[in-house]
Amino acid sequence: ARLVVLVSGSGTNLQALLDAIAADPAGYGAEVVAVGADRDGIAGLERAGRAGLPTFVCRVKDHPTRDAWDRALTEATAAYEPDLVVSAGFMKIVGKEFLARFEGRVVNTHPALLPSFPGAHGVRDALAYGAKVTGCTVHFVDDGVDTGPIIAQGVVEVRDEDDESALHERIKEVERELLVDVVGRLARNGYRIEGRKVRIP
Ligand code: GRF
Repeated sequence: ARLVVLVSGSGTNLQALLDAIAADPAGYGAEVVAVGADRDGIAGLERAGRAGLPTFVCRVKDHPTRDAWDRALTEATAAYEPDLVVSAGFMKIVGKEFLARFEGRVVNTHPALLPSFPGAHGVRDALAYGAKVTGCTVHFVDDGVDTGPIIAQGVVEVRDEDDESALHERIKEVERELLVDVVGRLARNGYRIEGRKVRIP
């Protein structure tokens, strides 16, 4: 399966996918064909460059409207003919054109146990709430914010001494494994989305 991975930051989830593919190129069942971002100068793009991958950057401020940005992102992604789009720390909400083109084939990873703590600060919100466990969720993207059908989740304990970055790092250890496992299974086995359920044979 052809993967386009979208990033906005350090790209450690992207790196985990690249490492898993490199470790078993024939068996993993997917290859990253391009990496897209919503901003320049991030480690995620450097990681893509080191892996010799094509990259593209779609910045909202380069477009007159949000819809124009969404269209540009859709076209840039579609150029690589992905089977799956993996949003790995991509910090923008994709629009209706992107979903019209790719819905049902866009996977996102979120650093909290959805439906708890959706949005851009899931780790901070769980900590502030006093949650004793949190974790990460890999789900299909729909037209909401972090509301699509859940594929898999991983639980992470919250420790008294945690601050946001310590907790996020611990979540990311689980998240990277979960994402690599899910993407590989989707790619190798195929899947069906039945309402809020995802079936992977
Ligand atoms: C991940 O925890 C993702 O869930 C969140 O931001 C983090 C991105 O990490 N949205 P990285 O860029 O993959 O290192």
